[in-house]
Amino acid sequence: MTTQHDRQLSLHRQAPVALVTGGSTGLGRALVHVLAATGWRVITTARSRAELGTAHADRTGVTAVAGDLRSTDHLAVLSDTVRGHGRLDLLVHNASDLGPTPLPPLADVRPAQLHDVLEVNVVAPIALTALLLPFLTRDDGVLLSISSDAAVEHYPGWGAYGASKAALDHATLTLAAENGVRGYAVDPGDMRTRMHQAAFPGEDISDRPTPESVVPHLMSLISGRPASGRYRAAEIDASLLVEVSAR
Ligand SMILES: NC(=O)c1ccc[n+]([C@@H]2O[C@H](COP(=O)([O-])OP(=O)(O)OC[C@H]3O[C@@H](n4cnc5c(N)ncnc54)[C@H](OP(=O)(O)O)[C@@H]3O)[C@@H](O)[C@H]2O)c1
Repeated sequence: MTTQHDRQLSLHRQAPVALVTGGSTGLGRALVHVLAATGWRVITTARSRAELGTAHADRTGVTAVAGDLRSTDHLAVLSDTVRGHGRLDLLVHNASDLGPTPLPPLADVRPAQLHDVLEVNVVAPIALTALLLPFLTRDDGVLLSISSDAAVEHYPGWGAYGASKAALDHATLTLAAENGVRGYAVDPGDMRTRMHQAAFPGEDISDRPTPESVVPHLMSLISGRPASGRYRAAEIDASLLVEVSAR
């Protein structure tokens, strides 16, 4: 006999599942909050256990797993956590390494520093996607990578980070094409976050938009599921309106 508890458990298991990296601060934290508030079950990760705990204390539907994305053991733990949730509808590569600050010219970035940036911003997202592809393809999931205008512009000082974001864009859209899932590389625009402050040390960044203001654009993208591609967050609603009216 099906009990009330069984029915609740079954409904709970049908709720969509997202994995968002870098969910302890900035854009990742804001996205996790909105996903959880709109019925998603969300798995998130960052290195600082304390910040993760503070960011999501008592928040229903959020599973926070502390660890470093450069560790293959941690990637395996994340994959196991997804398996435990039974499905994956959205994978967001949001965590990112800016590289050395103040931002040096590319020729002055040491190889070890370059390795770090590429490992967090490119190698880990590809490896994590590879582990989770069986879920993403089965569940018709969305692969979303947070990019930057530095991926397509050539700002002095932003070479290591910019090259990593260009590679992340390429990898994301290739993985999407190879596996028949929706894939998006999204430039969120400037945001008032810790990373942005690190890029502009000592500058007043209070005029930059909040990460919370970017989340509705990401949510439109996730629910609207336009064609795979590279998008600027600020333009997402307009492009979705075109797609919806063309149906
Ligand atoms: N802010 C902007 O103006 C701007 C502009 C364009 C693009 N973006 C992009 O937007 C995204 C979000 O950036 P944000 O500004 O919100 O940054 P943020 O506030 O600095 O957040 C970065 C997150 O990534 C986590 N993280 C970093 N390295 C990690 C690692 N090795 N393993 C696991 N987690 C790691 C951080 O936590 P721990 O440090 O505890 O690990 C934190 O949760 C990034 O992809 C960034 O490149 C930002």
